[in-house]
Amino acid sequence: MLTINLSNAKSFVSDEELASYLPKLEDADRKLREGSGKGSDFLGWLTLPEQYDREELTRIKAAAKKIQSDSKVLVVIGIGGSYLGARAVIEFLRSPQYNLLPKDTPEIYFAGNNLNADAANEIITLIGDRDFSVNVISKSGTTTEPAVLFRVFRELLVKRYGEKGAASRIYATTDKARGALKTLATAEGYESFVIPDNIGGRYSVLTAVGLLPIAVAGIDVDALMDGAHGAMEAFKEKGLDNPAWAYAACRNALLAKGKRIELLACYDPAFRFMAEWWKQLYGESEGKDGTGIFPASVDLTADLHSMGQYIQDGARCLMETVVHIGRSNTRLRVPDDAQNLDGLNFLSGKDLLEVNEQAFRGTILAHVDGGVPNMVVNLEEKTEKALGEMIYFFEYACGLSGYVLGVNPFDQPGVEAYKKNMFALLGKPGYEDRARELAARL
Ligand code: PA5
Repeated sequence: MLTINLSNAKSFVSDEELASYLPKLEDADRKLREGSGKGSDFLGWLTLPEQYDREELTRIKAAAKKIQSDSKVLVVIGIGGSYLGARAVIEFLRSPQYNLLPKDTPEIYFAGNNLNADAANEIITLIGDRDFSVNVISKSGTTTEPAVLFRVFRELLVKRYGEKGAASRIYATTDKARGALKTLATAEGYESFVIPDNIGGRYSVLTAVGLLPIAVAGIDVDALMDGAHGAMEAFKEKGLDNPAWAYAACRNALLAKGKRIELLACYDPAFRFMAEWWKQLYGESEGKDGTGIFPASVDLTADLHSMGQYIQDGARCLMETVVHIGRSNTRLRVPDDAQNLDGLNFLSGKDLLEVNEQAFRGTILAHVDGGVPNMVVNLEEKTEKALGEMIYFFEYACGLSGYVLGVNPFDQPGVEAYKKNMFALLGKPGYEDRARELAARL
């Protein structure tokens, strides 16, 4: 099971200070489990690993098999919580180069997470004349980016396969009853999957939102759910021996000492989109009411050669959380070189895992010496089960941490501001007054 090591934060936060968070953590845990806190309509993720819809998971697996058999490409259309989790899991467990590697599963491209014409046209070029399917994901069914891009890819499908053929290649993941996408899916007969009412976008990776694309990539979704279930049981323990409680306490204690930015770091480049997923989870959950830790991320060791200077020596507002993975799935030895012109023969015969491990250990100590407290989240291995544990760990710790901070960790009112301005500037009916006001300012 995942563990946390706070020994490299202890020179910044004492055991007594951490223990002082226990009453707030108990209160936060009670609010989550009793549904008595702010945003309590969105707590479905807490028991999801046990209470998910088994019949739907069977349909998800069947749909994934169909897509694998009739398509060379799957285009996944969604944004935010309807996008990041699936991409993160696929890149972490398969590879960031998944689409380039030899495999017997479809290539997977993500669209509708931006409004950039070049990005969309590139995906159309990559599909070429190959067979493809589309999984459109939107809880509200009205989000502009995925809705616009769905029009584009739906038109492409209809041109290639006709209305009926296109409908058999479109999979809609949306609300069970409401929204424009649900209405369209019902009218056109798309196979549909449900985003439960009580699970917000950023907590939805273990629903159909994430599971369909993840299953198409050939990942064992049962093992992922089992891992999350194990964590759900393990993290019921109360107290600072619970890694989620310890993490929530430590990051809040560090925030109180002026560490306003948290860097999530990992020494595996396949983790990059897990960090993007984590940034949304924590940024959207905590960044409100004028407070919150700003979540950022670094890929190590790469970013030690770009961000390393700032981390070591810049403004002392940083804390760092390193996800440490105990094993790599493959091995690679450093070759010996008779000439030793690069002076690296002291590494000859060592596995890269060991070299990476020493980089990790040395960097932590350097950063602590530079004034950056470090928390280490230990993952035993890079497997579905371990990742399921980590997803649940970060979700549960986020709910706890948000309540400790005193915010509603389950809403995102700030996301609306840009949408209103964009609609006004694009001439959406009903936004005329705002359009005039903005025009005067531009
Ligand atoms: O976490 C969230 O609620 C958001 O990131 C949403 O997932 C995102 O805005 C997309 O919304 P929707 O799924 O309604 O299209």
